[in-house]
This record gives sequence, structure tokens and C-alpha cells, in this order.
Amino acid sequence: MRTLQVLADLQSAVRSARCAGSSIGLVPTMGYLHQGHLTLVERARAECDLVVMSIFVNPTQFGPQEDFVLYPRDLERDRYLAAEGGVDVLFVPDVDTMYLGGSGEQQVWVEPGSLADHLCGASRPNHFRGVATVVAKLFNMVQPDRAYFGQKDAQQAVIIGRMARDLSFPIEVRVIATVRESDGLALSSRNVYLRAGERQQAVALSTALERGRKAIEHGERDPRKVEQQVLGHLSESAPEADIDYVTVADLNSAKPLERIRAGNVLVALAVFFDRTRLIDNIIVRVDSAALQTDEKAAAQR
Ligand code: PAJ
Repeated sequence: MRTLQVLADLQSAVRSARCAGSSIGLVPTMGYLHQGHLTLVERARAECDLVVMSIFVNPTQFGPQEDFVLYPRDLERDRYLAAEGGVDVLFVPDVDTMYLGGSGEQQVWVEPGSLADHLCGASRPNHFRGVATVVAKLFNMVQPDRAYFGQKDAQQAVIIGRMARDLSFPIEVRVIATVRESDGLALSSRNVYLRAGERQQAVALSTALERGRKAIEHGERDPRKVEQQVLGHLSESAPEADIDYVTVADLNSAKPLERIRAGNVLVALAVFFDRTRLIDNIIVRVDSAALQTDEKAAAQR
């Protein structure tokens, strides 16, 4: 594995691979790698000839009160894990490479529009503008055939997919299922911040989402009632969690649903344990046959 800091070096590595007919996969990350990141690499490895991973803790996606400075970093460990995981080129740019003259100089941004109005976008103003902009830069720098993102960051995946479409990036955006600990907690670089008691309570994020899934599977079609059940479970099982949101939303637009209908439904949540913000979500497939039966049952009640 080659570790490259300089943009010209990255571009010449990518160019020679492309000239040799290789397909290129990109896995953008902020480092402090875990099995979630490495699963994206596995998929890229299976589908592409050259796998590029970027590690860049992007200042423009952090709010002024957020954890940019404290975000966990360990490049030596990341290099080891990335090489073991099958990365060919590890791109580790500094801020001046990603933002000429520093991030304060950025004038032209990728705006995610109403896709950022709800869920995490509502409580993190400008977060998704920062994400979309840095990912657009990485797309232009690497020019991959495919880029890999995790379902764990559901709204991010929606925005990047839509950005690729709306801005005509000739790149396939792949979204990979969330990787979890054996007790259900979604892997996250931020899990290291959790104290022992918080770690135990954090299991409630996934069990609360499963409660939501059951409610939908049992025929609940009012999104607010599903949210109430998820909230109820969370406040019971994770009393120290400060709940940011629980939202039943449309998977393609990340907008809260008024009514659950056939298709893929996103149930998403975010909580704080002290200053550590954790997110998780599930996709519930509602098929139209089940819906008809439920509606008939409801009409007969
Ligand atoms: P980061 O949080 O490092 O995540 C990098 C990628 O790994 C994202 O696509 C994320 O969704 C995915 N990922 C994280 N945890 C996962 C899990 N448990 N299972 C599956 N995939 C997981 O997301 C970012 O960085 C940044 O916003 C970035 C896209 C790099 C832009 O700065």
C-alpha cells in the first residue's frame, strides 16, 4: 500500500492505473478505522482493480461547538488496518491540499438543499454542505468509477447519491449495510468516547429501532406512533441518553413521512451521551400486500 499526501502524487498513481485499464474504487473516511470502514474496502476490493481510501478529518462538516479538535486520530494504526484490509493507495491530504488557502477561503459550496432539512441536518447546520463539498472534491481528485458509503450515515448516503446524479458525476455510489458489534451497537469511531455505563446503554439505540420495525411489521402506519414507541424504549433503556431525534422518514428524500406506505421506510435516530453524538437507523421494507391486509384489517376494526 502506498500512502500519499500530495495531490499530484495521488493523481499520477490514479492516472497510471487508469491507463493500464484498471477500474478505480474510492472509500472516503475520516480515519480511526473500524470494521465498518473495512467492509466498504472489502466491497471496493471485490468490484474494483485499484482501491483508494482517503483519510481526512474535514473541518467544514463540524460545527463550532462540535468535536473537530477531539475527533480520534491514529494514522499509524489506520495505515496498518488499511493495508491489511486491501487498500492500494491511502490518500491523507492536509487541510491546504483539500482547501486551497485554508477552509476559511472556500466560497463555492455544494448545497444539499432540502435533503438536509431534517434528521441530522436539522441539528447540525451546514454539516451536509461540508460533507457534500469535501466528497465532491474527492470525486474530482480521484475520479473513481465507484465510491463506497455506509448506510449507518443514512442521510449522508442520500445526499451523496443525489449529488452524483444532480451534478452529473460519472460515478456509481454504492451504499453498504451497517456493521454492528455483537450486541447490536453500530460501529463508529466515536464509540471510543463512551464511558462503561454509556456503552451499556448505547445498545438501546438498535433495540429501540427494532421496536420500531416490529411496530411497522405489526401494521402501525402512523409514523408518529412508531416514533413514540422508539422514544419510549430509548428513554426506558438509556436514561442517560439525551435524544436529538427519532424520525420515520422516506428513504430517498430523508423527509419525515406523513403516512407509512409500501416501499422502503427509514427509521433513524440520534442521541447524545454527554457530548458524544451517536446515530443509527434501520430500513424497513413494507410490501404492498402486507399493506393491503393491514388496511383491510384497520377498516374492519
Ligand atoms: P466516517 O465517519 O469516517 O465514515 C466513513 C464511511 O464509513 C462513511 O461512508 C460511513 O457511512 C461508513 N461507516 C461508518 N460506520 C459504519 C458502520 N458501522 N457500518 C458501515 N459503514 C460505516 O462519513 C464520514 O467519515 C465523512 O462524512 C466523509 C464521508 C468521509 C466526508 O468527510
